[in-house]
Amino acid sequence: MDRKELIKKYIEFFKSKNHKEIQNASLIPENDPTTLFIGSGMETIIPFLLGQKHPQGKRIVNIQRCLRTGDIEEVGNSTHHTLLEMMGNWSLGDYFKKEAIEYSFELATKVFKLPIERLAVSVFAGDKRSSRDEEAAEIWKLLGIPEERITFLEDNWWGPIGETGPCGTDTEMFFWKLNDVPAPKKFDPQDENWVEIWNDVLMGFIKNKDGSFEESDQKNIDNGRGLERVLAVLNGFDDNYLTDIWQPLIKQIEKLSNKTYKGNERIMRIIADHIRASVFLIADGVTPSNTEQGYILRRLIRRAVRYSGELGISKDADLTTPIVKKILEIYDDYDILKKNKQKIIDELNKEEDKFEKTLEKGLNIFNRITKDKKTIDGKNSFLLFQSYGFPIEMTIELAKENGIKVDEKGFAKELASHQELSRTASSGKFKSGLADDSEATKKLHTATHLMNEALRIVLDKPDLHQRGSNITSERLRFDFNFDRKLTPEELKEVEDMVNLKIKANLPVVCDVMPVKKAKAAGAGGVFDSKYGEDVRVYTVGSIGKEFSKEICAGPHVDNTSELGTFKIVKESSSSSGVRRIKAVLE
Ligand code: ALA
Repeated sequence: MDRKELIKKYIEFFKSKNHKEIQNASLIPENDPTTLFIGSGMETIIPFLLGQKHPQGKRIVNIQRCLRTGDIEEVGNSTHHTLLEMMGNWSLGDYFKKEAIEYSFELATKVFKLPIERLAVSVFAGDKRSSRDEEAAEIWKLLGIPEERITFLEDNWWGPIGETGPCGTDTEMFFWKLNDVPAPKKFDPQDENWVEIWNDVLMGFIKNKDGSFEESDQKNIDNGRGLERVLAVLNGFDDNYLTDIWQPLIKQIEKLSNKTYKGNERIMRIIADHIRASVFLIADGVTPSNTEQGYILRRLIRRAVRYSGELGISKDADLTTPIVKKILEIYDDYDILKKNKQKIIDELNKEEDKFEKTLEKGLNIFNRITKDKKTIDGKNSFLLFQSYGFPIEMTIELAKENGIKVDEKGFAKELASHQELSRTASSGKFKSGLADDSEATKKLHTATHLMNEALRIVLDKPDLHQRGSNITSERLRFDFNFDRKLTPEELKEVEDMVNLKIKANLPVVCDVMPVKKAKAAGAGGVFDSKYGEDVRVYTVGSIGKEFSKEICAGPHVDNTSELGTFKIVKESSSSSGVRRIKAVLE
């Protein structure tokens, strides 16, 4: 059975039970600032669960796209997805337990033809909110589910969404997923071969602001099943990604990476899942950013890009477009996808390209800062976030893979203080003092470090230091302690050395560390009083072969190859014992 057939059968079944099909809604909740995304079908109809009259009547059915951010890190196993299509049917103060359970049973066994020998159910065990649900158990028994396949669990309670609202006990249906091993007589919910396939919420309660639960006047039914999982079960797969929803995407990833799904399941699932969810998010109007829904979208795209790199997909390859095209074919029943096709492709490509520019450097930095370390502190995790675009969750995930912890509180503190700073900056207070971050000045900053080191070497003066620096987008001006005029030969030698280093494609890496440690590591920079406890140290050159190490606020380019040709245009006296060089990059 394919996705479209499943949807058709499902909707037709409930229509035959007098349900009206309602449109599915956007992933972005309307007028609800408390949640970022619609996570279940019922969230779009809460007023009607609370008693408002639904224009379509008391029995409704639909397929609702949902996004569950709590599961992002789980994605990669065979059953979890960020985005899912929820098949939901509701009774709004109409039928209750008996019909709800009967419909579920009929749908499962008659329409979907799941053998009863492979079914089991759980019902609510009872607590102070509501008593043990013997009634639901009795209904299942009458339908033919043996007693040993019915278990009472305390977890069988669903809702509310947020602090208050409709909620209630639920009863869940499980399917024995192994085709060649018969299901045990007794149902053990801990046995992972029993997979939950749907959830019948018997919505008879309201949770109040004071935390108390009271029986609601209107008794509702809120039944939901994840389409992806049901489809896999109906096709005899114990991996959702083997169904027709995912296989075209997986095949595309196989093609791009020249690797097989077998042996690379986790990574390929993550890439397929995250791009699919991103496609729907963009269609619903979200664009990548650093806040709220946009941040989740950014995380999804960047995680997919990171894993595609691990899979060996070249960063020059277009990862997203071919996968998006497949997604649009599979979900051609969604007008919003059709309408937004170009926007989806453009936004994904933009974000993919952006992150690919910094990912590799970021991973190098990650390796440097975690070398022989057990924890990544707030400053470094913030550096990865700010300068290399690593969502903190990605840093945490990477750290975990390496057995390292991240100081998340420290990160939050850094983030807050930078937000404070940028607020102040944008309010104009610090405007004049802010660094000019143009590409030209960045290059000249880095050239200054190279020249500083070259001067030390050529003039054989290890204690040569900066006495002043002024950089415009046209030139650098650098003052240093030295007590005589430089010869033309010396100037030429300095120039040549800098140009040699430029041609050597040396990485420029930034580390954050306490001043003392920076000094101990041999970093130059004499303005102790100007720097706080922690400083940025810019190193030019790879580990073990560092050419220059300077305490500096930056900003700098990422590699010396970006600099062009270095030329000294003037050497003069600045004051007693201090020389001044002006230089340019051509
Ligand atoms: N609202 C219920 C769920 O999401 C059906 O599981």
